[in-house]
Amino acid sequence: MKDKHEKMKQIRDEVVALKESPIYAFRVEHKNHPVIGEGSHDAHFMFVGEAPGRNEAATGRPFCGTAGKILDDLLASIDIPRQDVYITNIVKDRPPENRDPLPSEIEIYGPFLDRQIEIIQPKVIVTLGRYSMNYIMQKFDLLFELEPISAAHGKTYQAKAGYGDITIVPMYHPAAAIYTQSLKETLKKDFQILKSFVS
Ligand code: URA
Repeated sequence: MKDKHEKMKQIRDEVVALKESPIYAFRVEHKNHPVIGEGSHDAHFMFVGEAPGRNEAATGRPFCGTAGKILDDLLASIDIPRQDVYITNIVKDRPPENRDPLPSEIEIYGPFLDRQIEIIQPKVIVTLGRYSMNYIMQKFDLLFELEPISAAHGKTYQAKAGYGDITIVPMYHPAAAIYTQSLKETLKKDFQILKSFVS
């Protein structure tokens, strides 16, 4: 059986070659990198954002720009080292003009995220923003519990993954806090719940 690292590398190779993606041409034209994910392959916590932005596509690293700095602060506020968690996105390529991901993009990249979840087997998935919340809630058959993110943020939802029990915690997207200080306070408060899941 292939080890986690090899399986993740296989995903990288497939995404790199994903010519059928609607945003493949944009990646090539702008010399962007796909962003697969970063962190521990044995992570207890997996953070799922939406799609890479300009900084992420330039470096190939998730959450390394302004929103990433906010995520770093939030992790530091609960004493969880960034290298101990796994951070990724649903969509692995940067959409033009940093627009929201389209359903066709979520459809083509979603299965890669599904495989990453199976490889890492996190106990807690933290969704960042409504796109990843919707995707993960649907994937784990929790659509009947789905609420707008204004109601769901900071709550915990129990689900069954193929490998065992899992907790899903929707959070606002850190980018939402860039211009709205009160959302940063909400995120900080919501992140406190994660402390109770530290193993
Ligand atoms: N926003 C995201 O959703 N993901 C990133 O990696 C960066 C910004």
